[in-house]
Amino acid sequence: FTTGSLAGKRVVITAGPTREAIDPVRYVSNHSSGKMGYALAQACIEAGARVTLISGPVHLPTPDRVHRLNVNSALDMLAASGKAVDAGCDVFIATAAVADYRPVSVAEHKIKKAGDAMTIELVRNPDIVATMAARADRPFVVGFAAETQNVEAYALSKLRDKKLDMIACNDVSRQDIGFQSDDNAMVIFWNGGSRRLDKAPKTFIARELVSLISQHFSQ
Ligand code: PMT
Repeated sequence: FTTGSLAGKRVVITAGPTREAIDPVRYVSNHSSGKMGYALAQACIEAGARVTLISGPVHLPTPDRVHRLNVNSALDMLAASGKAVDAGCDVFIATAAVADYRPVSVAEHKIKKAGDAMTIELVRNPDIVATMAARADRPFVVGFAAETQNVEAYALSKLRDKKLDMIACNDVSRQDIGFQSDDNAMVIFWNGGSRRLDKAPKTFIARELVSLISQHFSQ
């Protein structure tokens, strides 16, 4: 028997960066530490949910009672997300900083130095959160938007284009919030409303976001 605003609900969360291999020793990635996604996993557990955390490579302990699946690439994260949603999911939260592009091909052996310049051709990765939102049996889908300019306008277009139920946008040009910081600040949008969360620890922001999700999910 569980209590809390998400009691018994099944939540799937993506967190951390993805790594897109160039060759056996190199990859394309980004600065995500996983802190925001792990704080959300913890907050969902506190709210009574059953949580599957699909995590890119990070250096964080798994919160108690969270079922964690480790992945590397965006394609791995997509496959793990699809399976987790197939198994039953009420709320899908996409906190991961997924690489938008991956190298067209992965060299079998370490690429050797040759010449003064080199070019790596990239191909678009599938959009994981949009794929989950396009399912016939779609869960309540919450996306994030990491922007460095026009933060709120870009977030609103992602809410619409990816057909999300809710989006949390943060300004990743700031050093004191966003990537790697223990703090964050965000504006959360849904169809017909918004809420600003001023700078606070990610653990606090996560609880506020989970409370908003539970209010809108049950409507
Ligand atoms: O991990 P931390 O160091 O704590 O930092 C937290 C954070 C800054 C990474 C986090 O708060 C955040 O903003 N996460 C989203 C990062 C991101 O990739 O944003 P985006 O605007 O590029 O993507 C928009 C949404 O689409 C996101 O929900 C993303 O998970 C999703 N997406 C993007 C590309 C893709 N191929 N598949 C996706 O599902």
